[in-house]
Formats: sequence, structure tokens, C-alpha cells
Amino acid sequence: VIDISKLYGQTGMFTYDPGFTSTASCESKITYIDGDKGVLLYRGYPIDQLAEHGDFLETCYLLLYGELPTAAQKADFDYRVTRHTMVHDQMNRFFTGFRRDAHPMAIMVACVGALSAFYHDSTDISDPHQRMVASMRMIAKMPTLAAMAYKYHVGQPFVYPQNDLDYTSNFLRMCFAVPAEEYKVNPVLSRALDRIFILHADHEQNASTSTVRLAGSSGANPFACIAAGIACLWGPAHGGANEAALKMLEEIGTPDRIPMYIQKAKDKNDPFRLMGFGHRVYKNYDPRARIMQKTTHEVLSELGIKDDPLLDVAMELEQIALKDDYFVEKKLYPNIDFYSGITLKAMGFPTSMFTVLFALARTVGWIAQWSEMIEDPSQRIGRPRQLYTGSPERDYVTVAQRG
Ligand code: ACO
Repeated sequence: VIDISKLYGQTGMFTYDPGFTSTASCESKITYIDGDKGVLLYRGYPIDQLAEHGDFLETCYLLLYGELPTAAQKADFDYRVTRHTMVHDQMNRFFTGFRRDAHPMAIMVACVGALSAFYHDSTDISDPHQRMVASMRMIAKMPTLAAMAYKYHVGQPFVYPQNDLDYTSNFLRMCFAVPAEEYKVNPVLSRALDRIFILHADHEQNASTSTVRLAGSSGANPFACIAAGIACLWGPAHGGANEAALKMLEEIGTPDRIPMYIQKAKDKNDPFRLMGFGHRVYKNYDPRARIMQKTTHEVLSELGIKDDPLLDVAMELEQIALKDDYFVEKKLYPNIDFYSGITLKAMGFPTSMFTVLFALARTVGWIAQWSEMIEDPSQRIGRPRQLYTGSPERDYVTVAQRG
């Protein structure tokens, strides 16, 4: 809290908290993080138990409704999501308007935002039924849109959803099936990706979720709010870190070059940071990173990749950093993005799709948080204040008089 009366035209006391390191923006019952202990709970359930025993759609239900579904509720939910997987044929035009080399995240920001022009019955956000229909649509259409962004990027025709498949298998098929060739989803890869989706489903008031809440606080269209979240997620300090982490591992290339990069990361005059390391909240091992590392090994083993040079570099880098005084002192541990790139690359996704997959999974978190905000009777439009440090009031001078 600082006294602002010394600043021009301001009186009283203000909290000044750049980056909101210690300001709660809302109450929430959805996700709990204990950053010192490395704990993450969705609606009270530990992330490792959900990742081990649950599936992604069940996690979606949990985040949206607050409880795990019964078998009947789960079947009904899965069916309802399945009914919404198609996108309007007119959406194709949005995709084909882009250059082929457009980043898929740029395409996603535009195409998800464009959904707001297709569903006029999702605009009365005060109606819980309409909110739930909008939520279902978002969760169901994200894999379809993400797969379309991928297909467009690689120059292949779009593949329609096949709704007798489970959510994640359907997504894999839409990405990797090609006409005139039989495609069978590998159940081990599908399960691994489903688990990755669970790990990314929500993470309380991170930058993109706060963006969705702030956009939604004005009563904006839900699809437009999610598009805002996708735009925010794209940054390399947030969801874009998985892409940046893989690029960094590729650049390091071999374990003997690791010490040089560790040195660069420690050098205050060098902007370089170890990507996939450090977290605003976790000052201990990110619990998701542990599960991610295990998943990486499972995927590589399933694909028969015995020696992956990138994995070697990653594991060695982790070991060196965890023993280095700089990283120990600043409590910098691997975060979820450190291993996810290696896994997604092995599955066949290009680097540019990594953050798209993150967005696909985080959509349910954004939607659950958006809905919680709308239901909160204390909800008001988000309107941060500022400390004005500019010029005091002065009189206008014409161009001729300015010299
Ligand atoms: N490599 C080297 N030094 C680092 C790193 C890193 N990855 N992360 C933080 N530091 C240092 C900072 O230089 C700073 O040092 P100082 O105290 O001497 O100034 C100190 O640790 C604290 O860092 P901040 O930037 O103040 O921490 P903040 O909480 O603001 O940032 C962030 C967290 C953005 C995640 C940061 O650790 C980072 O940039 N990491 C790399 C990018 C990354 O992996 N992002 C993914 C986050 S997880 C997610 O979005 C899913």
C-alpha cells in the first residue's frame, strides 16, 4: 500500500502491485495451488490422481459442475459434447483466408473469436442454460478448430469429427488421418495426450484466465472472451513456453553445451532464460512436470524411440540446474512446459501446434472460471486503477508557437 498524495492529482492510499503478485482478483472454488509444497487440486482432487485414474472429459465435468460425474452423468456429458463437435461449413472460409505459413495460434485467435458470429443464442449470459450450451460448444469445437488449424498449416484437407471415438482419439484422428489411407488411433498415445489435457485444464488466476475473466466482466460474448484468453496464452512467458523450451533444447543440442546455457541464464546482462524453468506460484517442483516427465518416457517407449537426444539434454539440464546455487536460491524448478514439447514432438505435432494444444485443454478452465465469475453476486466490471506519473495539467500550445 503506498501513499499517492505526492503524485500529481491523486489523494489517499492505493495498493500498487505490478504483475499482481499478491493481489487476489476474485474468490474461486475451482483450483487450489500450494506453490511451496508443489500441490495442485481441481475441486479438491489432487492432479496426480485425476491424471492417473480419470479422463479429460470427466475433468471437464468436474471443473464445470464441481463434482465428479456418476456413470450416467458422464455418459450424458460425453454425448452432449459429442453433439457439438462440428463447426459451421462457413468457418472453412475463415481458415482459407490465412496464408499457409500463418502461425496456428494466430488462426485460433481469429477462428474462436469468429464463433461469436455464429451462435446468437449464446449471448444471454445471465441464463445458466445458455451459458452451459456455450461451454459445451467451446469444449467440443476446440479440437475440431485446432485440428483444422493444423491441417491448413500442413496443406492437407480437413478431416471431419468421428463421434464414435472418444474426445482425444477423435482429435488425433482429425489431425493425422489422411484421405485414402487407413488411420488407427494408437490408444497409448491417445491416453497420454488425454493426460496432458488433464494437466493443462486449469491453473487458477494465471494471465490467460485473468484475461478471460476481465474480458467477461464487461458482459462480452463468451467466444470472444476465450479468443482473448488464447491471445494471452500465446506469449512465451506463458503458454508459448512449451514451444520456446523445445527450441531451446534443440539449440543446446548436446549435453556438453549445457553449462554454457546455464551460464547465460544466470548472467543478468543476458536476457536469456531457461525456458520451461521457474513459475510465479510454484517455488517447488511443479507437480504437473513430474507427471509430464513420466508421460514423456511412456510415449517415447511406445514409439520405440530408445535414445532421444533432446530428452538426454533435458534430463541432464534438469539435473545440473537443480544442483546449481542460482536456481536453488531462486527456487526455479522445471515447469509443465519443460517436458511437454518433447512428448508432443514425438507424437508428430510440429512445434507451432504446442500452444494450440495447451489452449484446447485450458478452454475448460477458462469457461469454468468465466461461468463462476458470472454467477458471483459480487461480480463487477474489472477496472484496475493506476499510479499516474505523467505531466501535470498544462495548456495547449499551437504548432506555430512550439518552435
Ligand atoms: N531462467 C533464469 N532465471 C530465471 C528464470 C529462468 N527460467 N525464471 C526466473 N528467473 C530469475 C529472474 O531473472 C529473477 O531474478 P532476479 O531476482 O535476480 O531479478 C528471479 O528468477 C525471479 O523471476 P521473475 O521473472 O521475477 O519471476 P516471475 O514470477 O515474474 O516469472 C516466469 C515467472 C515468467 C515463469 C519466469 O520464471 C520465466 O520467465 N520462466 C521461463 C518461461 C517459462 O517457462 N514460462 C512457463 C511458465 S508455466 C506456464 O505458463 C504454463
